[in-house]
Amino acid sequence: MQIREARADERDALLSVHRAAFGNTEGEAAGDTIATLAAELLDDPTAQPVLSLVAEADRELVGHVLFTPVTLADQAVQGGYILAPLAVLPGVQGRGIGSTLMRAGLEQLRSRGATYVMVLGDPNYYGRAGFATGHQIKTPHEIPYPEAWMAQELVSGALAGLAGTLRCANALNAPEHW
Ligand SMILES: CC(C)(COP(=O)(O)OP(=O)(O)OC[C@H]1O[C@@H](n2cnc3c(N)ncnc32)[C@H](O)[C@@H]1OP(=O)(O)O)[C@@H](O)C(=O)NCCC(=O)NCCS
Repeated sequence: MQIREARADERDALLSVHRAAFGNTEGEAAGDTIATLAAELLDDPTAQPVLSLVAEADRELVGHVLFTPVTLADQAVQGGYILAPLAVLPGVQGRGIGSTLMRAGLEQLRSRGATYVMVLGDPNYYGRAGFATGHQIKTPHEIPYPEAWMAQELVSGALAGLAGTLRCANALNAPEHW
C-alpha cells in the first residue's frame, strides 16, 4: 500500500471512497454529505493549503484523508489544522489503513511547520492516534458530544496557552458538520 498526496485527476475516485465509507455506516445521505464536504474543501480558497492524502493498493484508491488549516478567534497564532474527513473503503476497513493515513498526514503536517491538529470524532479511534480532550479550543458550533472534540500537539507545548473559538474553512463551518 502506498500513501501519497492526491492528484487532481483523482477527485472522483477519492470522493467515492467517502460516499462508500460513510454511506455504509450512517446511511446513504451521510455518504453524500461527506463527499460533498470533501469536494467543497478541495475547492474552498479559505481551506488552502489543504493536505489531501490517499491510500492506494493494487492501483485502487482505498482511503483518503483531508487536513485543512484553522485559526482561533482573537489569536494571531498560526500552525493549526483540522482533520476532516477520513474514510476507508468498507471492504478493507480494520486493516490499519485509516491509522496509517492519519499518522502519515500528521508527520507531513509537522514537516510543513504545523503545530497542532484538531479532530471531531470517535474518542476510541482518535484517542489511539494521540488525540485527546483537555485543550482550551472551542468548536464554532455547539456539539452534542464534547468528548469527541480533541486536539493533538505536533510540537511539544503548542496547545499550552491556546484558547478561543476555532475558525475553520467556510465549507467546514456549516452547522451540519458539527
Ligand atoms: C473510521 C475509519 C476511517 C477507520 O479506518 P480503518 O482503516 O478501518 O481503521 P484502522 O484499521 O486503522 O483501525 C481499526 C481499529 O479502529 C476501530 N475503529 C474503526 N472505526 C471506528 C470508529 N468509528 N470508532 C471507533 N473505533 C473504530 C476498529 O474497531 C479497529 O479496532 P481493532 O484494531 O481493535 O480491531 C474507517 O473505518 C471508515 O472509513 N469508517 C467510516 C467512515 C467514518 O466513520 N470515518 C470517521 C470520520 S470521524
